[in-house]
Amino acid sequence: MMAQYQRAKKEQPDALLFFRMGDFYELFGEDAVTASRELGITLTSRDKGTHALPMAGVPVKAHEAYLMRLVRKGFKVAICEQMEDPRTAKGIVDRAIVRVVTAGTITEEEALDARANNFLAALHVHGAKAGLAWVDVSTGRFLVSEVPAREVEGELARIGPAEVLCATTLVERAPQVSESLDRMQGLCRSEREEWRFERTTALRALARHFKVQTVEGFGLEEDSLAVQAAGALIEYLEETQRSACEHVRRIEKVETADFLVLDRATRSCLELVVTQREGRTEGTLLEALDATLTPMGGRLLRAWLLAPLRQPEAILHRQRGVAEFFEGPFLREDVRELLRSVLDIERLVAKVSTGRANARDLVGLANSLAVVPQLRAKLEHVYSKVLGQLLARLDPLDDVAERIQRTLVEAPPLSLKDGGLVRPGFSAELDELVQIAGDGKSWMARFQADEIARTGMAGLKVGFNSVFGYYLEVPRGQVERVPETYIRKQTVKNAERYITPELKEFEGKVLKAEERSRDLEYQIFSELRDEVARHVGRILDTADALATVDVLSALAQRAVENRYVAPVLDNGELLAIEDGRHPVIERLGGTASFVPNDSTLDRDGRRVTILTGPNMAGKSTYIRQTALIVLLAQVGSFVPARKAKIGVVDRIFTRVGAADDISRNASTFMVEMIEVANILNNASARSLVVLDEVGRGTSTFDGLALAWAIVEHIHEKIGCRTLFATHYHQLTELASRLSGVCNKSVAVREYQNEIVFLHKIVDGGTDRSYGIHVARLAGVPPQLLDRARSILRDLEADNEDLVPRISSHARGATKASGQLSLFAAPPSHVEEELRRLDPDALTPLQALVELQRLRALLDN
Ligand SMILES: Nc1ncnc2c1ncn2[C@@H]1O[C@H](COP(=O)(O)OP(=O)(O)OP(=O)(O)O)[C@@H](O)[C@H]1O
Ligand SMILES: [Mg+2]
Repeated sequence: MMAQYQRAKKEQPDALLFFRMGDFYELFGEDAVTASRELGITLTSRDKGTHALPMAGVPVKAHEAYLMRLVRKGFKVAICEQMEDPRTAKGIVDRAIVRVVTAGTITEEEALDARANNFLAALHVHGAKAGLAWVDVSTGRFLVSEVPAREVEGELARIGPAEVLCATTLVERAPQVSESLDRMQGLCRSEREEWRFERTTALRALARHFKVQTVEGFGLEEDSLAVQAAGALIEYLEETQRSACEHVRRIEKVETADFLVLDRATRSCLELVVTQREGRTEGTLLEALDATLTPMGGRLLRAWLLAPLRQPEAILHRQRGVAEFFEGPFLREDVRELLRSVLDIERLVAKVSTGRANARDLVGLANSLAVVPQLRAKLEHVYSKVLGQLLARLDPLDDVAERIQRTLVEAPPLSLKDGGLVRPGFSAELDELVQIAGDGKSWMARFQADEIARTGMAGLKVGFNSVFGYYLEVPRGQVERVPETYIRKQTVKNAERYITPELKEFEGKVLKAEERSRDLEYQIFSELRDEVARHVGRILDTADALATVDVLSALAQRAVENRYVAPVLDNGELLAIEDGRHPVIERLGGTASFVPNDSTLDRDGRRVTILTGPNMAGKSTYIRQTALIVLLAQVGSFVPARKAKIGVVDRIFTRVGAADDISRNASTFMVEMIEVANILNNASARSLVVLDEVGRGTSTFDGLALAWAIVEHIHEKIGCRTLFATHYHQLTELASRLSGVCNKSVAVREYQNEIVFLHKIVDGGTDRSYGIHVARLAGVPPQLLDRARSILRDLEADNEDLVPRISSHARGATKASGQLSLFAAPPSHVEEELRRLDPDALTPLQALVELQRLRALLDN
């Protein structure tokens, strides 16, 4: 057996090997040590002395949780099963690796989030371009895209894979991409040999799996990077899943140009699917919008929020579906009532085609499919194009549902080997066997009555145990009446047990019938599962359409509940929101207490809004709500506003200054500047840029100078619509210098030395900040506040002329020298002296003398 183990281990040397031995998966050697350390399970030893081999095991019944913990930590686990029944096997049971489980290929339900896909991705970079392919093994979706190499990080952040495959050479070929992979949290990186990504290898793998001559039918070009990534991915799937990926049946090509691009920082800052600090789902946009009723709908909505659209026609196509559900309360409620009983069809189907589905899964699938004809009936008179198309894609599938329901009982047991699965009347042969087995029971009862009558032993009972089958039990007091034909088998407390030839003969018949009926049931079930697996394609298409109906009706539901409106969308440059609200915050405090605000931006005189106002006034809320409204509009959703007109944007960039990002191990200010650089390099005139306190992570003057220059650059060079919330009230000065900059501020009222936050955005800037007031609200001691006030007065007196001194030819200077020359004043005498010194040429003593001389110069 250890030879068998060694062979399996050799096949998967870098995986932990779960070696099936009866009710346990055993690990040996190094694997056992690792597992014991990572899982806290006991380490024992196989054999003693010089042959001692470390060993650790996990029970098969509870292995999922252990498996999940290992793959989450980045381990690969190979599962080696017993391939024959140990009871009937001759010699050592045959064993084989049936699959290799990794973070991206785990399908155990316990490990999966029903409302998020678990993707495995492959990445191939060549020059400045990259091909990506990703698959959810638990549902069978397989997608590819091509993006510029510098956008890989953002694209991967959108997809959110658990594991990514890349060539071992990625580090040398594309160091930046490689670094960005390392930066991504919770992503396992699996390196594969470069040849696996080669074009011919890839094409062969794809042809083999999808059984096609060419991948052009999927809209892919044979010499594309996407094909290379897809090929490597399929090959990895074949290696890890063995035969079990039949449900991966087609490749969907994602055109990134169709999507509104949101990079990692933007997604995180807008808290689309997880919150920024705690990484939770409560308080996110997804949670506020998610009224979906099926897990498939939940996953789709999540994907939509992470990748809104860019073309007005495509957006309006969806929006009209939402509108139809919005306007038709009966349609909406009827449809949603039906969706409530739909289970996770995608994952059920995946279990069917990988042979892991049990009878309950099939019944669940049938019940979910049975909803489809009813849903079709409800959708019969829809008028929007999108709902019409979805109706056409809903395959009634009554044949499949009916086939399952005809075969299986309504509430089958979990186990497939103990019978009780198949409906009476389905198979004459089975019914007969069941009858014999069932007859056995009545025969036994008759036999017991007859024997009592014959022998007069009133206490006689027929019983059964697993050691010697059926027996007759006679109470001790009556044993003298036992006839000769009885054979004594066992003495128990107060009774004796016997068997008789007649009893044994019948027992043989009954037991055989029972065994055969169980086998037959399993066979019928397996045939049914295979039969259903043949319809995987139809079922998945229908599941996809169902998910879309779910999302559209859910968006309508939320729009009704939260009083959203349909935004007008076009390719224009105007962004005009009347009485917009923050979709998440308005839910927290009750809609009534949220103060709505207008947002107007265009590419002309209202390009950049500089927003000032005291702490806690609502600046961050306002600029984020504007971004979220645009995003929701481009998803196809209604928006929290009284009226909205949105000239679509190609990207949204959001940055928050001084965001501590410990995880990325860079100074906060460095991170901030990297992100700003990213915006300045990637924003186009069609983008929406939202900056919150950018520049705050450094000294006041540095920060102000950078903020100033950033606004100038965006205004002049990029010209995109921009919102900039800032504490630097000096920036309001920009409005008088640049034609496209407007000032807004958040109104506060001062009342008896207190400030009242009105949360209302008004025209014009503020000239003071209210930090000290806020500090008082927070309970900072009064003496300290008095001191702070007096310091503030001094500082303000000193810097009164700060802004006027900012050279108005700053921009000219920037262009000419490529350097910032803000705050330029003529150099002082001391500075000129300093510049003449060459520190390298001075001895320490000379340096000291120079220092004294400079000091004396200053004092003169
Ligand atoms: N329009 C609004 N209506 C009601 N409450 C609001 C509104 N805007 C913001 N708030 C509330 O005010 C609080 C402060 O908002 P926000 O964080 O946006 O202020 P800020 O001006 O960005 O503050 P800071 O300068 O400290 O960053 C939030 O907790 C929010 O609940
Ligand atoms: Mg703020």
